[in-house]
Amino acid sequence: MTPFEYLKKTEKKRMDDLFAWLRFASVSARSEYKKELIACAKWTRNHLSAIGFKSKVYPTAGHPIVYAEYLVDKKLPTVLYYGHYDVQPVEPLNLWKSKPFEPEVRSGYIYARGAVDDKGQTFAQIKGIEAVLKATGTLPVNVKMVIEGEEETHPSHLPAFLKKNKKMLRADVVVVSDTAQFSKTHPAVTFGLRGIAAVEVFVKGPNRDLHSGSFGGAVANPVTVLCNMVAQLHDKNGRVAIPGFYSGVKPPNKWMKTQFKKLPFSEAAYKRSVGVKALGGEKGFTPFERTWARPTCEINGITGGYQGEGHKTIIPSLASCKITMRLVPGQDPHDICNKIEKYLKKIAPPSVELKISKQGGARAVVVPTDSPWLDAARAAIKKGFGKEPVFMMEGGSIPIVNDFKQTLGLDTLLIGFAQNDDNTHSPNERFRIIDFERGCKTAAALPEALATVK
Ligand code: BES
Ligand code: MN
Ligand code: MN
Repeated sequence: MTPFEYLKKTEKKRMDDLFAWLRFASVSARSEYKKELIACAKWTRNHLSAIGFKSKVYPTAGHPIVYAEYLVDKKLPTVLYYGHYDVQPVEPLNLWKSKPFEPEVRSGYIYARGAVDDKGQTFAQIKGIEAVLKATGTLPVNVKMVIEGEEETHPSHLPAFLKKNKKMLRADVVVVSDTAQFSKTHPAVTFGLRGIAAVEVFVKGPNRDLHSGSFGGAVANPVTVLCNMVAQLHDKNGRVAIPGFYSGVKPPNKWMKTQFKKLPFSEAAYKRSVGVKALGGEKGFTPFERTWARPTCEINGITGGYQGEGHKTIIPSLASCKITMRLVPGQDPHDICNKIEKYLKKIAPPSVELKISKQGGARAVVVPTDSPWLDAARAAIKKGFGKEPVFMMEGGSIPIVNDFKQTLGLDTLLIGFAQNDDNTHSPNERFRIIDFERGCKTAAALPEALATVK
């Protein structure tokens, strides 16, 4: 039996097992789900043990880390696989067509929170490795696997875990399936990710909510003040107005720009897909450059005052917002957090008190494009998808990829199976079944391809 035949034979069971994994409400950002994350980690360990891995759950001060390994021979290359079993919050619930933790198949898609980000994609890697192991009785590489429960939230205890377990995690290359393909007709290898820096801003006004009739006019409104400040984060050309924000920014090199130009782009289709009449962003750059190679500053949420039914005439005592900035090579998350703090403090009027909580983040990632591992990834995708991949970048962030380089000295292969319309972080998250299946095949072809790298 070949690995592909094994995959064919186990199709139904594979789907059932993925559904079992998806049923855990492993929302890492919310403490009320702590037990679900623990149960999910245990299920993951048990599943890997049943395949034949030596597997263990490592508790942390936050959510547990699952580590597993299948070691064949010291002389073979060692591949470290990474994925995350935690998921984003599901709100707003009323927009889901089926319940987020009751996976359902509709028109060729699996619908569930985590279907594609990242349980489904991680599962494809696991099942691909299992197929090779069951079909051939062994693996052509040593496999180590880290599956964390804190990718979607802050802080993650994985960087410290890497530092503490350097020897256990010794490997030659990292493989991550947590990105998207370019499109339904173009599988991809991703050679760069943006970094991220996060802050939360609190604007405090009067010592309590005030009657807006009695006090309005004499006391500054924190919501108005915050909106004013937020409006000063960009200039009229869509550039971030924080002083020094762009200092040190490295533009993409010639090879990267050539890859961008090779990729088809229809502005009309893009606008239609997200439901807007016109695009926004920084003047003078293409949409690929704006989302992959330029840093940004985004308000992720803003709140203050009364939000319930009817009117409540008050001057709210507090307003706040959550901001994340996407970073490109040359920018440091701590430096960027300091710069936005300094700027907001400068523009805040004396009528309010400003508090800023700086949460740090991660640097951008660039995979060396001349690495022989990339050729192996390309060959595996060719087998799995029946098509050559394109090389592209992504605007999203996978913070730990930096630590793989800094702490373990390892480059990462980003081989994603998602689509941009899979609704990651949105209601009705989904994974196209055919992408899942091709992902499994790619994963089954990958160990052999990696084994031949010199
Ligand atoms: N899988 C995504 C990263 C991603 C998104 C890669 C889009 C490529 C395209 C990951 O799970 C994620 O959402 N990361 C967060 C990190 C943050 C919470 C620190 C992100 O990018 O917002
Ligand atoms: Mn992810
Ligand atoms: Mn995510």
